[in-house]
Amino acid sequence: MEGFWVKGGECIRGSICVDSAKNAVLPILAAAILTQDAVHIEHCPGLMDVYAMESMLKMLGCACRWQGDELTIESSRLHNWEMPDAISKQIRSSIFLLGPILGRLRKATVTYPGGCEIGIRPIDLHLKGLRALGVRITDGEGILYCDGGAMHAGDVYLDYPSVGATENVMMAAALLKGTTYIHNAAREPEIEDLQRFINAMGGKIRGAGTQLIEIEGVPTLHGITYRPMPDRIVAGTLLCAAAITGGEVTLKHVCPRDLIPVEAKLTEMGCRMYDEENSVHLIAPKTLKSFSTLQTQPHPGFPTDMQAQMMAVSCLARGCGVIVENVFESRFAHVSDLNRMGARIRVNGRVAVIEGVRKLHGCRVCARDLRGGAALVLAGLAAEGETVIENARLIDRGYAALEKTLTELGGRIQRMTLKTDGGIT
Ligand code: UD1
Repeated sequence: MEGFWVKGGECIRGSICVDSAKNAVLPILAAAILTQDAVHIEHCPGLMDVYAMESMLKMLGCACRWQGDELTIESSRLHNWEMPDAISKQIRSSIFLLGPILGRLRKATVTYPGGCEIGIRPIDLHLKGLRALGVRITDGEGILYCDGGAMHAGDVYLDYPSVGATENVMMAAALLKGTTYIHNAAREPEIEDLQRFINAMGGKIRGAGTQLIEIEGVPTLHGITYRPMPDRIVAGTLLCAAAITGGEVTLKHVCPRDLIPVEAKLTEMGCRMYDEENSVHLIAPKTLKSFSTLQTQPHPGFPTDMQAQMMAVSCLARGCGVIVENVFESRFAHVSDLNRMGARIRVNGRVAVIEGVRKLHGCRVCARDLRGGAALVLAGLAAEGETVIENARLIDRGYAALEKTLTELGGRIQRMTLKTDGGIT
């Protein structure tokens, strides 16, 4: 098993360019199959989730090719509408392919995705949205057979602004005759990026970033070269790394507007933040003070994907902070490990109360989900002594070589092979 070894106590300092966003790239790769032409994705991050999506595209008959950090997808030979059982169960983002496969081939088969580390994650909203576009879906022992033979544009109302369901419906409707409206759509910046991508291919979508998205179907889309938006969660994590170690960073290739909720909380904690057009600069205080309440919410509320990292920072802040996780029902798996490192956190249902402590101490902990794992790395950077974080592969799902980025910023962190008996090889 791979893990990270972290020696705490070094300030995170310096300047770094942020990669393209995983949550923008995954739906964009899925949407690439809406055209038969080649699509070139520039600055495509080398993430486990991206490689998994690439494998799925290949299984569907697409040709994928890397040249440096540019990934080309060419789907003129797309023929397979059945997503392999093992992959659909294992990789949540396979659900993004449902909309575009239906858009291109008018039929799709997918195994009901399994649960994941942060909760059950149902797909009822995706299915309801597709049904509103005339897709007939039958469930045969966990396999969903989707027949899009009678697909039509229509009005889709989402009971909850689900990011994935909004994106799936956008992709399914892009090639449908007529205009589709998504009401109560999710407003995340990654949805705006998907709109930009599809429109650059010749699509006609308006309203992404608002609660009403209008998709005017076009007969065909064409190939393009596209650079996805910067990763606001990676940026937020690096800001937290500087905050928790008393450091100072400049992040380049970011969109400061997308970082407003995170910057607001870090400012509340005493950090000084300076935004420029495409960069942000953070100077941490000598002593952090806790925020009073942090509630995760759909965008433009505080992102659930930054909850764990902010919790790690608040462990070392003066005072008491409350975090309410409103988006996912079980996203506090990192709490027990933070407490093993000396934090004082109590959890009751969706609420966590963090009583700041003066120091954390290193020990062996385990990443149980992507962002929770990143939070343990942050805690390790600020802890006394050495921390070993098991399960680095989970962190690799969303951070490309996190150890290299943090080393470049002055952190002491290394990737290593761990023995299951607790030793290090
Ligand atoms: C996306 C992000 C993920 C982020 C999440 C919320 C990607 C690849 N992933 O995930 O990093 O944490 O948005 O910002 O973009 N739900 C249902 N039924 C559904 C769909 C969702 O009940 O059919 C529920 C979920 O269980 C969850 C909530 O809605 O409680 C939000 O989920 P959703 O917005 O769909 O998140 P994802 O698209 O899966």
